[in-house]
Amino acid sequence: MEETKLINGFPHIHFSRDIFSKTEMLERSRSYFEWMNKRRTVRDISNRPVPKEVIEQLVMTASTAPSGAHKQPWTFCLVSNPKIKRKIREAAEEEEYRSYHDRMSQEWLDDLKAIGTDWRKPFLEFAPWLIAVFKKVYDLENGNRRTNYYVNESIGLACGFLLAAVHQSGLVALTHTPSPMNFLSEVLKRPENERPFLLIPVGYPDEEAYVPDLKRKPLAEVAVFYE
Ligand SMILES: Cc1cc2nc3c(=O)[nH]c(=O)nc-3n(C[C@H](O)[C@H](O)[C@H](O)COP(=O)(O)O)c2cc1C
Repeated sequence: MEETKLINGFPHIHFSRDIFSKTEMLERSRSYFEWMNKRRTVRDISNRPVPKEVIEQLVMTASTAPSGAHKQPWTFCLVSNPKIKRKIREAAEEEEYRSYHDRMSQEWLDDLKAIGTDWRKPFLEFAPWLIAVFKKVYDLENGNRRTNYYVNESIGLACGFLLAAVHQSGLVALTHTPSPMNFLSEVLKRPENERPFLLIPVGYPDEEAYVPDLKRKPLAEVAVFYE
């Protein structure tokens, strides 16, 4: 078998991987589910420092996600600077105060009661790292626009990979969407082809952290088989 092959004139490398026995496959998929089922969104994040190298690895894992035509249309802004975190907190709380008081529907506010959130966002200042994820709605190459494809799907997957990597490293994250999020582009001085997508504080959980007692839907409610 050839190690490399030209397809459409482009090099392709031979792909192979370990194949597990049925028993092993069952065990690996079961234990991965049990591990991932322990992931929680945590809002009580400690200010204990997290090494930059860990954050770098988390982002590299996120960036392994599949993306439309392999454009990887994302930028991860990694903020540990206290002044910038404070600016982000202030701007987010201003927007969130208005959302909680004027902009959210009663249904939305009622749905959030069980989660226990309000307009205050101390974690944006105290978490050691904020990962502000920006989607590249198009690429800029020497001032020319290049199209990106399925940008929302791609970046959603990258953020999913990021959250799994955070969990794997023993840290916690909060998927945060202060709305509207335009202030992030200004504070972080992002170029015009980038739009804020998610703001994800990452760190250790506080010693006294609490999370809502949520139940996840069983398989029968989330899957339909066609056999
Ligand atoms: C797109 C998206 C936006 C979210 N926005 C917020 C947010 O702004 N503030 C917050 O506290 N949680 C936010 N969450 C977290 C959800 O409330 C949380 O994932 C959900 O309650 C389930 O909890 P779990 O992640 O612990 O399973 C968001 C989650 C997603 C996927």
